Amino acid sequence: MNIVQEKLQTINNSALSELSLVSDSRSLEEIEIRYLGRKAELNDLLKSIKDLPVEERSTTGQMANVLRNELADKIEELRANLELKIDLSGLDVTAPGVIHEAGHLHLTTQAIREITEIFKRIGFYRMRYPEIDWDWYAFTALNFPLDHPARDDWETFFIDPEDTTNKLGRRVFTPHTSSGQVREMQARKPPIRMINISKTARRQLDISHTINFHQFEGMMIDKNITISHLKGVIEYYTKEFFGKDTITRIRPYDFRFTEPSFEVDIACRNCNGKGCRLCKEGWLELGGAGMIHPNVLKNGGLDPDIYSGFAFGFGVERNGIMKSGINIDDLRLLYQNDVRFLEQL
Ligand code: FA5
Repeated sequence: MNIVQEKLQTINNSALSELSLVSDSRSLEEIEIRYLGRKAELNDLLKSIKDLPVEERSTTGQMANVLRNELADKIEELRANLELKIDLSGLDVTAPGVIHEAGHLHLTTQAIREITEIFKRIGFYRMRYPEIDWDWYAFTALNFPLDHPARDDWETFFIDPEDTTNKLGRRVFTPHTSSGQVREMQARKPPIRMINISKTARRQLDISHTINFHQFEGMMIDKNITISHLKGVIEYYTKEFFGKDTITRIRPYDFRFTEPSFEVDIACRNCNGKGCRLCKEGWLELGGAGMIHPNVLKNGGLDPDIYSGFAFGFGVERNGIMKSGINIDDLRLLYQNDVRFLEQL
């Protein structure tokens, strides 16, 4: 036996005796690295075979290979056995299971889903229109004159303020879901019964305004649609969403794209319309509504002498927090992602 073969024998013996004591996969891995890894002594021995006399090289090389393969097989076998061994001592199959805490949907998502369902029951289909749209859909097609203050940078986020080359104007983060009105008229012929729920953005941030919020826009167009239909649909919605005893009122207002126009309020459920800290004067505003202006119908390719319709646009978050039992006096809390707050909703 030459010196290399002797060393191989020694390595084999010590590896086998270490492996016989192994009881966990971590120490098995350490042994594997030590005897078969890149820095193992075995590698140096293999390199030194070329220095042996020619007639001894082949047998020594074979011996080294056999030893390496046997060690690798042994390690694999031990590893498989260790993986199979699961420690069942201390397992009490009668102990109650661990209940993992489940998350829940954000208030805004809850409201969007409920609103969608409420309107679906009376034949309205859900739509989504672009969150970034052309000025034409957001303003011009809705009868806004070029100098209307809503176009002012302080209300609306313009994406490309310098670009005046496109005939649809500049692009904006949609400041209201009304930008979907004319898109819907272009997409299909009446009867139209759409509920468009989408993201909206305005340059406002205070206790009752967030920069990003959601609106839901109802729009119904057909022959002979009147204010009675508008009132009926809104009353139906408020009773379904806020409760059967909800009192709703509409009061005159001004929007460029509806005539006549209204704002819609519900009597505060906290004080029953008497006035309290939450509502101040007894009423809470849901949003705007009205009969679609003839110019808007024309811009959507519809003849105002044949068709009429109503539209309304309410804030999802504002409606959500007005629901009874949810008394949030700062809208911004919804988007501060504080789990201690969110888990209460
Ligand atoms: C509009 O946006 C009109 N497009 C509504 C409309 C549609 C009128 C169809 C007629 C016909 P207004 O700016 O009032 O209207 O916004 C409607 C509602 O959106 C508000 O009552 C409020 O509930 C919500 N809202 C508006 N701005 C914010 C904001 N920054 N944060 C949270 N909610 C907001």
